Amino acid sequence: MSRRALLKQHQALLCLGTAVGSVPLRSIATHRLPPRADEASLYVHWPYCLKRCSYCNFNKYIPRSQNHAVMTECLQKETQTLLQLSQVSRISSVFFGGGTPSLAQPSTIAAVLETVSKNAHLSDDAEVTLEVNPTPAGKASLKDFMLAGVNRFSIGIQSLNDDHLRILRRDHNSQHALQTVSEARTLCPGRVSVDVMFALPGQSVKSWESELEKLLPVCDDHVSLYQLTLERGTQLYKQVESGELSVPGDDVTAVMYKSARRDLENAGFCQYEVSNFAKNNAVSEHNIGYWRGHQYIGVGPGAHGRFVPRAVGGAQREARTQTLEPDVWIREVQHHGHGTRRRIQLDHRGLLEEVLVMGLRMNEGITQQHWELFSPEADLKLIFGMSENFQELQVGGLLILDDRGLRCSWEGLALLDSILPTMLLELEMFFQSKGYQEDAQHLRNTDIQRDR
Ligand SMILES: C[S@@+](CC[C@H](N)C(=O)[O-])C[C@H]1O[C@@H](n2cnc3c(N)ncnc32)[C@H](O)[C@@H]1O
Ligand code: SF4
Repeated sequence: MSRRALLKQHQALLCLGTAVGSVPLRSIATHRLPPRADEASLYVHWPYCLKRCSYCNFNKYIPRSQNHAVMTECLQKETQTLLQLSQVSRISSVFFGGGTPSLAQPSTIAAVLETVSKNAHLSDDAEVTLEVNPTPAGKASLKDFMLAGVNRFSIGIQSLNDDHLRILRRDHNSQHALQTVSEARTLCPGRVSVDVMFALPGQSVKSWESELEKLLPVCDDHVSLYQLTLERGTQLYKQVESGELSVPGDDVTAVMYKSARRDLENAGFCQYEVSNFAKNNAVSEHNIGYWRGHQYIGVGPGAHGRFVPRAVGGAQREARTQTLEPDVWIREVQHHGHGTRRRIQLDHRGLLEEVLVMGLRMNEGITQQHWELFSPEADLKLIFGMSENFQELQVGGLLILDDRGLRCSWEGLALLDSILPTMLLELEMFFQSKGYQEDAQHLRNTDIQRDR
């Protein structure tokens, strides 16, 4: 996997890279199953939205019409195929994301959960999250989603400033956002999260702080804060390029992040990941699974997964991506039972890179025991402890390596993007110094036939 791709993945929890197949000289992980091979979480992607927000480059489509029956059938079929392929016996959590999954019918959500229960154990109290757009148009009631099996809502309010919401081309206003949060809190107290973005066009530190002041008293026990990324090809990117709009510079953005962390802390929220804050330990179990390197199965157009295909004799974890375009994906699922477009076997280094990049996002970092599950041969101190570059980061107060494990300091968490390239390079140098060769294989599309 290229370092750039991995860093991109760290930012968006998406994307994967590649590695070249070669005959292993000395491989330290071939044919060893990663931990918890019989358990995974499930991500289900609903690819449709009502309209295109100006900043968004997620895999979403604005359909002229939607055939809910066909989508339901295909999501069920692909869920069944991939669950059987992985041979997991337990699904620990389910996340319906998008796109706008709150545009799906509750019966679709119920049908997918039923398929999960028929093919694996899904406990009654397993976390089942639905991403909700607070738009009044087109969505079923939150209560009906709960009756379908959802027990956690993640609401994309993005901002409580109507001018910003217009610039972002959202189809809701601040009133809609507040109403949706209040309704969700009544239905699901303690299990409601809100997504908020900062570093928006024209936003000042002062206006951001006053927005947070409005938000904190009304939100529930979980907040996700995302710094706006200007994505190439989006309308907002063009508006900023042309000078029509301007976004705050890096120094202002850093102050915004810092002040938000402080305000959230003062309001009783504990930061447990770069962008995530929880009160009363209402953390997202599903996302923690990603950051702790657990297996996950991705279903739906463009979904990503990481699991061992044990039913076909697989012994190594694969990074999988489903076909992006919904109509093509539907045809593939109808013909082959799944729409997997790309599979890459993760070699030992690839797996450790993911554990490192994901683990350092969390406050707790990577514990010695956790690292050992993936790397029994070489502990954190052996790999990073002697490196001068690492020691510089440690002396600079950004990273901590002790008997507990490896983690960022409070300051380090804010600078993770600049720390990771150094850490990945150190890991690569360790592998080179030991003469380990990559044993990854990039499975071409034709190889996917083996699953069918
Ligand atoms: C996968 S999106 C979809 C959620 C839902 N459709 C919505 O828009 O509310 C999940 C979250 O990613 C964040 N996000 C999307 N695009 C972003 C960008 N360009 N920069 C920063 N955060 C972004 C938003 O906060 C959004 O709620
Ligand atoms: S609703 Fe969400 S997924 Fe859809 S375009 Fe807007 S940000 Fe993207």
